[in-house]
Amino acid sequence: MAKLTKFVVCGGGMMGSAIAQVLASIEGAEVTILRSSNRGPDIRDKVRDNLQQLVDKGVFEPSYIDEIVSKINIAFDKNEECVKNAELFIECVPEVMEIKQDLFAGLEEVVSEKAIFLTNTSVMSPTEIASKCKHKERVAGAHFWNPAHLIPLVEVVKTPDTSDEVIDIVMETLTAAGKKPVLCKKDVPGFIANRMQHALWREAISIVDQGIADAKTVDDACKYSFGLRLPYLPPLVNSDMVGTQLTWNIHSYVLKHLADNHEPSPIVKEMLEAEKLGFRAETIDGYKEGFMKYTEEEIAETNAGLNEYLIKMVYGK
Ligand SMILES: NC(=O)c1ccc[n+]([C@@H]2O[C@H](COP(=O)([O-])OP(=O)(O)OC[C@H]3O[C@@H](n4cnc5c(N)ncnc54)[C@H](O)[C@@H]3O)[C@@H](O)[C@H]2O)c1
Repeated sequence: MAKLTKFVVCGGGMMGSAIAQVLASIEGAEVTILRSSNRGPDIRDKVRDNLQQLVDKGVFEPSYIDEIVSKINIAFDKNEECVKNAELFIECVPEVMEIKQDLFAGLEEVVSEKAIFLTNTSVMSPTEIASKCKHKERVAGAHFWNPAHLIPLVEVVKTPDTSDEVIDIVMETLTAAGKKPVLCKKDVPGFIANRMQHALWREAISIVDQGIADAKTVDDACKYSFGLRLPYLPPLVNSDMVGTQLTWNIHSYVLKHLADNHEPSPIVKEMLEAEKLGFRAETIDGYKEGFMKYTEEEIAETNAGLNEYLIKMVYGK
């Protein structure tokens, strides 16, 4: 199977710029970011900033920045040659079903019959996004995680129509870009990882709601126990390690006591109504409030610290 090298990323926002950077790391790659407007700063500056942080940490040589950025081109029109000749498209446009559907259907009219279309939607159905396309067998999900240039996982989502050949090419291409693609065999809400993540959030919120522990205690209980070993000991190896009998015994006793609400918790609604919007809240008396209270400095530190932590985890630097 010939390796893909001609890519188009549709949308140059937060995810699009980082995904363009990831694809540009493939040998011989030519990446075009297809934008809807030429307003705003040059997206390549964002890529430079991402890479500079990795250079500062000693992950890459300084020359790597120009090497990657020179492979990224910007286009504004789907009729430009670099768009029409592309082999793989990944859309990172706003989370609006019609925008995504129309984008793919419109591109299909001008690009090669063999081109692959991937959607980076967080929650929408790739099957529904493909519904206006003629060649639904060439459409799949490719759910990157933010920050996409640092988080290795990409969930490749197969729709009932996606061909096995397309899945193989996508998995191979993402691996060549240094990612860890995993196959989600069914197009289900939340794919794989968000289903697990939000099952945990639901329980965490329920513990607070029931007055079992306060928010900080809940986070500490996660951070200083299973959270610490999770990358080494994920849930199913952990179950095997303790043995299937123990998993059975624990689940027989405890599952009936765990949260199983199918709607958001009432305390999240109360927080919304009280404008306790977390990091996005208005600052009142020096604090922004969500489940907990934060100063501006704490928020800046948490945001900056995330990339530092991920670079340490992923690159060991
Ligand atoms: N932000 C995240 O953490 C995250 C994580 C995973 C997936 N996603 C998904 O990725 C997608 C993009 O998210 P984002 O955070 O980068 O959004 P964003 O708002 O930062 O960027 C979207 C960009 O798309 C552009 N755009 C709009 N219509 C367009 C069109 N027709 N053609 C080309 N460009 C167009 C906008 O001008 C904007 O620059 C969404 O579907 C989102 O759900 C986001």
